[in-house]
Amino acid sequence: VVYNNENGSVSGTLGTPSKYHVASFGISNEDAQPLIKKLEAGDVIPSSAYMDAIVQKTGTTNIMAQTKGGDQENCVMLGGHSDSVAEGPGINDDGTGSLTLLEVATHLADYKVNNCVRFAWWAGEEEGLLGSDYYVSQLSKEENLKIRLFMDYDMMASPNYAYQVYNATDAANPVGSEELRNLYTNYYEAHGQNWTYIPFDGRSDYDAFIKNGIPGGGIATGAEGVKSENEVAMFGGKAGEWYDHCYHQLCDDLDNLAYDAWVMNTKLVAHSVATYAVSFKGFPK
Ligand code: PHE
Ligand code: ZN
Ligand code: ZN
Ligand code: ZN
Repeated sequence: VVYNNENGSVSGTLGTPSKYHVASFGISNEDAQPLIKKLEAGDVIPSSAYMDAIVQKTGTTNIMAQTKGGDQENCVMLGGHSDSVAEGPGINDDGTGSLTLLEVATHLADYKVNNCVRFAWWAGEEEGLLGSDYYVSQLSKEENLKIRLFMDYDMMASPNYAYQVYNATDAANPVGSEELRNLYTNYYEAHGQNWTYIPFDGRSDYDAFIKNGIPGGGIATGAEGVKSENEVAMFGGKAGEWYDHCYHQLCDDLDNLAYDAWVMNTKLVAHSVATYAVSFKGFPK
């Protein structure tokens, strides 16, 4: 879906198929005009053309890091996005995931790994998963097969949080990793926490991975969804309000965080890395 927004720039709708996204990320209206003029409502545009335009105009890029240690042919990968929407600073979305990755990467330096661990701080997620989509599109078959698992960490500390786990067995989306899903739920259970399942709806950076045969999953704490009474019984917080009342707004700042959720989830992310850095036992080759 392509449309002109109020500013006269072009936006994609989150959740559109990953092959087709458009972006206004960091491109001035003036720069965007030649692109916009070629577009009609309803057009679909391969994201790679826009990724090229964005990189030229802004220099934005994915940031990747990989352990030197561990089997370099078998990697566990995790990612969060380093960009925010233009409307706000993006501290919960996704400063939290970005910081979680940094925290885990820092601590990982003290350990030996059997499998390599690859970190990604994605660019352009908010403009249509551009960084992760581009990255996966550039993988050779050989490089694709080295990524045994991708774990997505986007929005780790929503102020009115729920512990949400992508459900691999959702009948409509029979992709993703059931093993990973169970690792998350077992951890929450062992730590006296409840969780809810959320579908793989294509709204975060796991999308290109699972569409290209790489097992994936992740956790989140909720965006613009409304918390139910039942969820209040499970997680506390306020019924009838968004999980993150500052989602994609100026107030997504340092005050917009549930620190307890961030700590719980960051420890879980560390656990996920520790588990798969040791072994992929039980995983499909
Ligand atoms: N990825 C979305 C964003 O960055 C938020 C989101 C996370 C939506 C998880 C649904 C599930 O805006
Ligand atoms: Zn967002
Ligand atoms: Zn996000
Ligand atoms: Zn620390």
